[in-house]
Amino acid sequence: MPLIRDLVQADYSVVEELLYSNHLGGGRFYDPEGLDVVVAELRGSVVGVAEFQLHCDFGHDIGREAHPGEQTFVLTMAVAHAARRGGVGRALLAEIARRAQEAGHTFLALVPQDGGDAADRQAFFQACGFTLYGPAGPGAAWGCPVSEILAVKGTAATAGE
Ligand SMILES: CC(C)(COP(=O)(O)OP(=O)(O)OC[C@H]1O[C@@H](n2cnc3c(N)ncnc32)[C@H](O)[C@@H]1OP(=O)(O)O)[C@@H](O)C(=O)NCCC(=O)NCCS
Repeated sequence: MPLIRDLVQADYSVVEELLYSNHLGGGRFYDPEGLDVVVAELRGSVVGVAEFQLHCDFGHDIGREAHPGEQTFVLTMAVAHAARRGGVGRALLAEIARRAQEAGHTFLALVPQDGGDAADRQAFFQACGFTLYGPAGPGAAWGCPVSEILAVKGTAATAGE
């Protein structure tokens, strides 16, 4: 079970490489300004990262008026190749869900990246309980009630527990 904890500055170079090697994140230097970020550690090494906005008025911010109100929005996730299919991605989402619940939000939303590996990404998000809502197509939104993510057995462990 990975340890999920807040990002610290010493993680920046590993996170930068994780994002860069997955064609995520545009800049040369990692800058988490304005983001909420958690990392996953296995045996003392950072093997995963998730960037999110704990408080996001998704519907209004990007013009989706039919969307439920303020919630938590998952921006970016990456897990090192060698650590995949071991539950790290699921644990990162579970920690975001736990924090969302603590903050009074009931829903996680995200827009999976298009392009290569889109089917794998969707399979992952579906396995974690997310479903498409609104019209399908590029930029389509997916979401999941926080309670469903937290109801999955084995997703409750977080840093310090
Ligand atoms: C998507 C990603 C974050 C998943 O991380 P992970 O740690 O491998 O995911 P988990 O091990 O927690 O997977 C949970 C479940 O999702 C499903 N799943 C995960 N990856 C999958 C894949 N490539 N194909 C099909 N199903 C997949 C499985 O059902 C899996 O459970 P199982 O292994 O018991 O069958 C990782 O593959 C990754 O970093 N991909 C590249 C970057 C990316 O696409 N990020 C997401 C969009 S920003």
